[in-house]
Amino acid sequence: MDFKKYVASVKDFPEPGIIFRDISPLMYNGEVYSAATDKIVDYARERGTEMIVGPEARGFIVGCPVAYKLGVGFAPARKKGKLPRETVSVTYDLEYGQASLYMQTDAVKPGQKVLVVDDLMATGGTLAATIKLVEELGGIVVGTAFLIELTDLHGRDKIKNYDMFTLMQY
Ligand code: PRP
Ligand code: ADE
Repeated sequence: MDFKKYVASVKDFPEPGIIFRDISPLMYNGEVYSAATDKIVDYARERGTEMIVGPEARGFIVGCPVAYKLGVGFAPARKKGKLPRETVSVTYDLEYGQASLYMQTDAVKPGQKVLVVDDLMATGGTLAATIKLVEELGGIVVGTAFLIELTDLHGRDKIKNYDMFTLMQY
């Protein structure tokens, strides 16, 4: 399947110089969304995944159906002010701007094999931050998976020690 046909590329969004890779057309099409999910599910099985962690918000769109299909749990890494109980947190840089992510301390169990899933890797900042949270909770990151990798930003170099699956590269 030609997954790239279902990604809309939008110039100068959200700021000049950025080409925004919008996965909405892929999500709007049940057959394509399901096929893309299945690719990540296959990878997750290979890695022995016991738990999916995905960063807010697009990480939920990709990570939750993978967790459902595998029959494993999903733990969100959320933005500021969303989680009601005790959390761990990390602040990081984005391709545009800065952000913080939080996870509840009981989201991942020590020794649990975690796959980190998101729609897209740009600088790798969100991924590095999410990995940090999972490891702080004692989880073992067995792999990372994305629909899209923006190769020019060399996010992979930031997380050399972790296995990675990406469905599309730009
Ligand atoms: C986007 C995207 C990734 C991240 C990638 O999320 O969904 O999580 O940026 O960029 P990075 O590799 O440079 O960290 P964003 O923070 O825009 O939030 P959203 O999912 O709520 O739209
Ligand atoms: N998140 C960070 N950079 C992005 C981009 N170029 N397109 C879509 N989402 C992004």
